[in-house]
Amino acid sequence: MTKVITYGTFDLLHYGHINLLKRAKELGDYLIVGVTAEAYDMARGKINVTQSLSERIENVRETGLADEIIVEEYEGQKIDDIKRYGIDIFAIGSDWKDKFDYLSDYCKVVYLDRTKGISSTSLRAEDNRLKVGLIGDAPWLDKYRRQARFVNGMEIVGVATSHKESLAKGLAALPLVTSNIDELLAAVDAVIISSDPLLHHAQVEHALKAGKHVLCESPFALTTHEGEALASYASEHNLVLQDAIKTAYSTAYHRLCLLVKGGKIGKVVSVDATCTTLRYSKDDNAVSGANWGGMGEWGPIALLPIFQLLGTGYTSRQIVARGEKGYVHEGEFTKIDLVYPNAVASMKVATGVKSEGELIVSGTDAYVYVPAPWWKTDYFEIRYENPADNKRYFYQLEGEGFRYELITFVQAVSTGRENSYITRDISSALCQIMGDYYNNPDTLRID
Ligand code: CTP
Repeated sequence: MTKVITYGTFDLLHYGHINLLKRAKELGDYLIVGVTAEAYDMARGKINVTQSLSERIENVRETGLADEIIVEEYEGQKIDDIKRYGIDIFAIGSDWKDKFDYLSDYCKVVYLDRTKGISSTSLRAEDNRLKVGLIGDAPWLDKYRRQARFVNGMEIVGVATSHKESLAKGLAALPLVTSNIDELLAAVDAVIISSDPLLHHAQVEHALKAGKHVLCESPFALTTHEGEALASYASEHNLVLQDAIKTAYSTAYHRLCLLVKGGKIGKVVSVDATCTTLRYSKDDNAVSGANWGGMGEWGPIALLPIFQLLGTGYTSRQIVARGEKGYVHEGEFTKIDLVYPNAVASMKVATGVKSEGELIVSGTDAYVYVPAPWWKTDYFEIRYENPADNKRYFYQLEGEGFRYELITFVQAVSTGRENSYITRDISSALCQIMGDYYNNPDTLRID
């Protein structure tokens, strides 16, 4: 019996796939099809897959061409499979020509002509692309545009900013560049808001009332009440309102949270997060208009692991800030301590003081250590009393998390389902504490 094997993602199964499977099957008597696991596709940079692994397996099963379906989970697995299943022929589309010649040490390698004019990528692109506009003047605004190029189903068509003169080149070249938000809203289906947190509430409200989906950097507003009102308005009008905290969508960070919640380090007793930069402290030009201090830039990011791991039910909090409220100057710095019934947390953020940008989650059995800069990490460790027990975790991170955040947003818009990365209660708690920082007189000030 001649055994043939082939591999693919088989997203949105199309006649190109079916042709390929038919011809692969004709090469022998028994066809094994390897369907790629989500994590493996992510790791090899294929992040736009629309269907889940089980849907894609079902696609292949329904063709009736596969005698056996397996899951491809890791790089190098093909050699293992060829040996394990006693494969005679490895077949793959001609887009992979030469790439798998190394397998000829183990079996015959056949490249089959790819069917012209069809691909999963083109099918995904044929869906109505979401027209997205950017609002704001964050120094990192252009990262959204650059990462959006890797995300199917969306295109950035314009920007509304009060700093047209200092726009990055790529942004200035967008079809629509305006200082008038209404002009942008008229041209888009959705907006990404990356502006001074003090402006978020008005801008989110403006966009939602114009019937646009919104991805806004946290917080949406500066009180729980206002934040929840925006979220309710969005859901009543079938609009997506999503928090933009890139870290939340990165695989390593997300897996870390799952491991901790699964009890991997015992009971969590303390969460300590630090995010600082000196990027603006001595650069007056950068300060003008486009910089809103450590809390504005980092606050929600540093609070995220605290709320995700300990919840939002803290019983007391202390905010200590150095420097004028919301102002940027040399030495600007904020520290927040939260006390929970069974745990404590602290976060430090600054745009004018430098510290180690690490995240540490202390538990009764072990601790999690995420090295600087933890908010864009692809790596973390679980450290035990005995260093020999330590475990290291590594996950591919593309585009600092922006890319995954955009994909999640596009999927939420197209499926109408809210994402589960940043839940409503966390979103509200972020509004509350950021509001406390901006408005509350109980912030302790140090010189
Ligand atoms: N294939 C083919 N003809 C096409 C598309 C795909 O023969 N028009 C083959 C590929 O060469 C591969 C298999 O089908 O051997 C599975 O390919 P996959 O990567 O899942 O499909 P694509 O449509 O190429 O997906 P994408 O656009 O996401 O790369």
